[in-house]
This record gives sequence, C-alpha cells and structure tokens, in this order.
Amino acid sequence: MNKFCFDLKSSLKLLNDDYDPFSAPMGHTTLDTKHIREDFLKLIDSLNLKLLYVEIFVKGPDYGPGVHVDHGRIDQAKINWVYGGKDSYMTWYTIIPEKVKDIKFNVTPINSYSVVYPEHTVKEIHRQEVKCPSMIQSGIPHGIYTKDESRWCYSAVLLTKENKRLTFDAMLELFKDFI
Ligand SMILES: [Fe+2]
Repeated sequence: MNKFCFDLKSSLKLLNDDYDPFSAPMGHTTLDTKHIREDFLKLIDSLNLKLLYVEIFVKGPDYGPGVHVDHGRIDQAKINWVYGGKDSYMTWYTIIPEKVKDIKFNVTPINSYSVVYPEHTVKEIHRQEVKCPSMIQSGIPHGIYTKDESRWCYSAVLLTKENKRLTFDAMLELFKDFI
C-alpha cells in the first residue's frame, strides 16, 4: 500500500443510476447534488462527515500533466470515481526546492484555489491508475495523463463536521468497510 492512491470497493457508489457520468462538459465544474445517491449522503453523515462538493474534471485525450495541489499543501484525501480515460493515470511529484519561486497560485473555474507547478519545478515520485472509486492524496503536487480517450473524474471533497479536511490515513480509517 502507498500513501498516494488506494482503490476502494466498487460498492461505494456516488452517482444515481439514472445519471450519465459522461454527460458532464469538458473542464472543471461541480455536480448538482440531485445526482448524488441518498445512501452515499447517509453514509457520510453516519461517519460524521459532510460533503463540500463533488468536483467534475473532464479531460480530453492526450492531456497532461497539469501539475497542481488542491486547496493547500497539507495531507488531504479525496475520493475519486473515474469513467472512461482508458490507460490514463495520475502522477505525484516532489518539489525541486530551488525552483519554488516559479510556482503560481490559481483560482479554479469553480472559485476554489489551487497551486500550479510548472513541470520544471517538480520531479515525479509515483504514478497510478485511479479507479472507480479510489482514495487519492491531493495535498502534494499531482497531475493526470490521458491517452486516446477522454476521462471523466468525479471527486468528492469531504469535510469533518468542524469543516476540516481529512488526512489520507483518517479517510482510510473511516472508509475501512470499503477496503
Ligand atoms: Fe487535484
């Protein structure tokens, strides 16, 4: 097991059966909560969590890597459900300290913020396919490569009831029934 990406059981479902995951447009949007399963919302409530939002990331073929950190450079986990994107994978990086000055803040299309790392500022340390679903570490620089297919990623941002992000280990412990 590594601390970048961990696959969860497919019985952990996010989307209602009548929602077509391929219907989301290209780019970065959020999912209307009406498409989220009632049982998922009940589950996270029973775990003392709440859903900030579900982000949707849709990338076309031959994309990559778009290295960034979500929100802030702290240990933070998200749960991602990926549709399509055959042979795509996520990459994780360490920062090259002497290049730190080239790193930029970015406001995303959904008005969250991320930190963008030009490729010359980082060195790859891990790569792995993200499944449907997988828990991922989004608090260190990461990116995505797609091959011939577009890739639809639904990414649940969960918070504690005290509005804190969850570390990878904390999330793993809470979702241990799906390991
Ligand atoms: Fe991300």
